[in-house]
Amino acid sequence: MADQDALIPPLLLVGCGRMGSALLSGWNAEGLSPSVIIDPAADRSAPDSHVRVTTAASIQAGARFAAVILAIKPQLADQAMAAVAPLIGDAVVLSIMAGRTLAGLRTALPAAAGLVRAMPNTPAAIGKGISVAVAEPGVGTLQRDLCDRLLRAAGSVAWIEDEALLDPVTAVSGSGPAYVFLLAELLEAAGREQGLPASLARRLARETITGAGALLAAADEDAADLRRAVTSPGGTTQAALSVLMAEDAWPRAVHQAIREATTRSRTLAS
Ligand SMILES: NC(=O)c1ccc[n+]([C@@H]2O[C@H](COP(=O)([O-])OP(=O)(O)OC[C@H]3O[C@@H](n4cnc5c(N)ncnc54)[C@H](OP(=O)(O)O)[C@@H]3O)[C@@H](O)[C@H]2O)c1
Repeated sequence: MADQDALIPPLLLVGCGRMGSALLSGWNAEGLSPSVIIDPAADRSAPDSHVRVTTAASIQAGARFAAVILAIKPQLADQAMAAVAPLIGDAVVLSIMAGRTLAGLRTALPAAAGLVRAMPNTPAAIGKGISVAVAEPGVGTLQRDLCDRLLRAAGSVAWIEDEALLDPVTAVSGSGPAYVFLLAELLEAAGREQGLPASLARRLARETITGAGALLAAADEDAADLRRAVTSPGGTTQAALSVLMAEDAWPRAVHQAIREATTRSRTLAS
């Protein structure tokens, strides 16, 4: 249990869906002071010491927060930001909304004391996410440190100065877990095609990906070195890699996929 000095100060969490609740469980584990959560389904999660309301209008005037976290869908953000604007006070606003730029957030929240934008990813749900964050110029050290601590509760954090990099970040790590899940699907289906029983194919695909991921996390070597270490000349791995690494196979597909996702992120930005 965190000691009193280490408690995370009261927060206002706007949107407690997949990503909001993942962050909240990390903050609870770190020792989050009683805070307020706005979500249309206020009773969606297990009861805790926080105040859960369905609209910003239900929050007492004069409530003070150290940070306001925006975790709603970007397309619903304008209405939600207008509703919470009077509650922000001198809190830092941390937005994890994809595609909502610092300039767009500033237009919607002209009186906010400081704005930070971050892109987390879904392994945040088990504390294994990675978030990339960028602060508006003028955000003070204390506010930045608080945002860092909030994001760190869901995994690791990298800070950048150039907001434009959040588009390729979104393509690589924001959307990235989906690519790995696709690989699990494809490995499982291909194993079944080669005669493996369905349950064994599923287990092999999943545990190979999680095991290789853990090995990558534990190793100092580059991914390419780890790959070479399991590739014997003329062996089975090389037979598969000669297909996957052909110029028009994975190298082209992955580069094109990340390019497309980056472009899409730029197009959606507002
Ligand atoms: N999931 C990811 O992999 C991921 C990764 C990086 C960033 N993000 C960003 O994280 C944000 C949330 O994504 P998510 O996947 O967690 O979405 P989600 O599961 O749909 O969660 C959003 C939550 O906000 C609630 N909500 C809607 N309108 C609201 C309002 N006016 N005030 C307060 N709460 C409101 C929604 O309730 P209802 O369901 O009842 O509408 C829902 O519970 C998005 O902006 C997304 O771009 C997500």
